[in-house]
Amino acid sequence: MLINLEGIDGCGKSTQSKFLMKKFEENNEKTIILKEPTNGKYGKKLWEMLSGKREATTEQILDLFVMDRKEHVKDKINPALKKGEIVLMDRYYYSTMAYQAAAGIDVNRIRKDNEFAPKPDIVLIFDLPADLAMKRVMGHSVADVFEKEEHLEKVREAYLNLKDDPLVRIIDSTRNPEEIFEEVWKLVSEVRNE
Ligand code: TYD
Repeated sequence: MLINLEGIDGCGKSTQSKFLMKKFEENNEKTIILKEPTNGKYGKKLWEMLSGKREATTEQILDLFVMDRKEHVKDKINPALKKGEIVLMDRYYYSTMAYQAAAGIDVNRIRKDNEFAPKPDIVLIFDLPADLAMKRVMGHSVADVFEKEEHLEKVREAYLNLKDDPLVRIIDSTRNPEEIFEEVWKLVSEVRNE
């Protein structure tokens, strides 16, 4: 089973992936959490670009995310799926369909560029307003807070544009982590029993 956790920075997806991992392991199901961007050769370049250490165009960034993912699918994702493990993806190609779409690239093209990647069984999008997400990440305000918030709100809109995708479930993430997890577990159980 392949589960993809998504949302803007500060949405709480990492906490939820840990909750999921714990629950599956209690049921004696081998589970692995994989993150993108990876720390492989393309992932390392991406981190430099995302942190502003290295300049790049939107197209170059998209290419790198795709190459990073190709390597990830081959080296980690497919082998884990073959072994029958439950794979929890903390970001996957739905991140590209939100972040790079918000940066101006056509979402259908992004979907096509990622057709090599195994489809998730379910995509959980943890949704909350950007100002709340930012407060969670930083706990205080910073100088460029307004620009960041505007950007994240755009990414949030791009995520919400995916709501009609049959794999996508939008989760109200303004609630507390335990309440959110109750819904997460219900949604995951539904697709498992299909
Ligand atoms: P993130 O998981 O937020 O890193 P961390 O929480 O460990 O700091 O991911 C880093 C950034 O990468 C995040 O802002 C979203 C961005 N990103 C994309 O723009 N496109 C993608 O395809 C992926 C996987 C991530």
